[in-house]
Amino acid sequence: MTGHALLVTRRLAPGVVDRLLPSFSVTLHDDDAPMPRADLLAAVRGRAAALTTLDDVVDADFLDAAGPDLRIVANHAVGTHNIDLAACAARGVVVTNTPGVLTAATADLAMALLLAATRRLGEGERWVRSGKPWGWAPNFLLGVELSGTPLGILGLGRIGRAVARRARAFDMPISYHNRTPLTDEPDARWLPLDDLLATAQVLVVSCPLNDRTRGLLDAARLALMPAGAVLISITAGVVDEPALADALDRGALFAAAVDNHANEPEVAPELLRQERAVLTPHLGSATVRTRQAMGNLAVDNILAVLAGEAPLSAVRPA
Ligand code: GLV
Repeated sequence: MTGHALLVTRRLAPGVVDRLLPSFSVTLHDDDAPMPRADLLAAVRGRAAALTTLDDVVDADFLDAAGPDLRIVANHAVGTHNIDLAACAARGVVVTNTPGVLTAATADLAMALLLAATRRLGEGERWVRSGKPWGWAPNFLLGVELSGTPLGILGLGRIGRAVARRARAFDMPISYHNRTPLTDEPDARWLPLDDLLATAQVLVVSCPLNDRTRGLLDAARLALMPAGAVLISITAGVVDEPALADALDRGALFAAAVDNHANEPEVAPELLRQERAVLTPHLGSATVRTRQAMGNLAVDNILAVLAGEAPLSAVRPA
């Protein structure tokens, strides 16, 4: 027992928090819902470590409430848009995330969405369940075929690359946009953003949300996409959701799928009205194996930092 006091803001995968119990005094918010803000600020006081989720805003108020003992904020996500990285750095608080362990699950989900949107699975499923009459017909619920269809990936990071690997098995030619072209992806063509948008018949948005990408795909940029294109978003806040709904409404886009939403758990009402939008509740990393690995990586980061060692996956301000 080191005497360190820790806060874990959410119920985690089985066994994860147990790893902390022998050595630390742990306050666990043992609930599937996020901590109300006032409870969070009260509970973090005097903690040496906080294991947080994307719903916990870690800003100057949080850091003030925590006080000088706080050494690490271990975010249970690859994203860190809930955290003021500069404020943490200024106070010497280490921030870590959970990269790598969720890559495969998230890329699988992107492919599931890509197939669901292009082959109209949501519409078809709703149709069958509704009891509305249906029957096979040459023109019934026709979709877009993946083979030979140009795929654009906005953000060829770990997850984007894993999507590209999967999409190659579907014979999709791949282009991407990152701030700088990669030298080790010879089978994917780098394009400037506007050119990527203009040529991708299917676009996967997999870049991180940050000050550069927030709202990047606004109405004007969505208008660059080819007629009948399909947009898959696995990053919240990059795509302007009402503008996306409008493009679907006008038939400018064929279909879309959105897993992460700008204002979760709210979903843009404009999108809810769109038959051609596949809408899922932030399921990217939602597999048993991945959630276990994310929890364990967050705990490993806490154990390392409180032992005076280097964290496994630190995040620094850009
Ligand atoms: C999103 O779910 C993330 O892990 O950042």
